[in-house]
Amino acid sequence: MTAEFNTAPCCLIVDDEPRLRQVLVHLMRSDGFACLEAGNGEEALAHLERQPVTLVMSDLRMPKMDGLEMLRRVRGRWPDTAVVMITAVSDVEVAVSCLAIGAMDYLTKPFHLEEVRARVAQALEKRRLVIENRGYHESLQEKVAVQARRLEELFLASVQSLAEALEVKDPYTRGHSIRVSHYSMVIARELGLEGELLRQIELGGHVHDIGKIGVREEVLNKPGKLTDAEYEHIMTHPVVGWRILAPLLGETPAALNIVRSHHERYDGRGVPDRLAGDLIPLEARIAAVADSFDAMTSDRPYRPDGMTLEASVGELVRCSGTQFDPSVVAAMVSAVEGGRVALVPRATSYVGVASAATASPTR
Ligand SMILES: [Fe+2]
Repeated sequence: MTAEFNTAPCCLIVDDEPRLRQVLVHLMRSDGFACLEAGNGEEALAHLERQPVTLVMSDLRMPKMDGLEMLRRVRGRWPDTAVVMITAVSDVEVAVSCLAIGAMDYLTKPFHLEEVRARVAQALEKRRLVIENRGYHESLQEKVAVQARRLEELFLASVQSLAEALEVKDPYTRGHSIRVSHYSMVIARELGLEGELLRQIELGGHVHDIGKIGVREEVLNKPGKLTDAEYEHIMTHPVVGWRILAPLLGETPAALNIVRSHHERYDGRGVPDRLAGDLIPLEARIAAVADSFDAMTSDRPYRPDGMTLEASVGELVRCSGTQFDPSVVAAMVSAVEGGRVALVPRATSYVGVASAATASPTR
């Protein structure tokens, strides 16, 4: 490569007529371009492989590889290279279709040199704008991505502080939400769920009991059986949680569904909306099984010893079709049998509110 190519923008002239190439080379050199020549599309691509080219001026009809095919390849591999097609008047229709493929402009033979200058200047200005626009777009996307990450961090921080406030109030809650989130993910994966829904299920598990922040402490931590009034009070937590989180979780509706509907029952006898069967969002049916499973396998204020894994699974199966969605229970059973459920040690156990009588709704 000569020194000329290190400083000047490079123009590649592609034409099978050497005389025409010479005219254009002369013109472009006098306008400060370093010039390369090619007799057909193949030769042109070989030049492009070797060095960056700012502008290609190419004939349409050439042997080996014509201008149209060359244009397609240039657009695909060197999008920053501007291409101006040169064509006979009879090929104007083809030349216009070149614009659709991405040529910056076209010239019809015979052309005046001033016309070439004007078209080249326009093509380069277009190229500059396209590149600038892309750069702007990319930096904008980057800024938006940074802000989105920041917003998510702030959002998670506020959810976290709510969760911490609940833990202070109800020490048994510590760990429960994390475990419910974990078991919910295990079940969801077993059911073949993935991507964004999985992410929302994880989040929903973390925050599903946040509404207990509105439950009186003496009720929340009461050892032994609850009165009907106390039970009713504690079971307001799905709606309370839903009200707290609705403004925050607008973008993650599945997580919000878990908060509101994790105490619905498959037979329609749950709270708060008495939804039945498939009317209960799948993510909430999953969280319901995960919630009860953790409640059974963990220590509770009213039942200091958790049940064994086998006994807990037995309870889930017994309540399949009444309290729980059979397909969700089947997924949990399959995960347990496949060794994909690691029981979290009781030392880290919870746990607010699942009922001592395991078949009845958790509390
Ligand atoms: Fe709950």
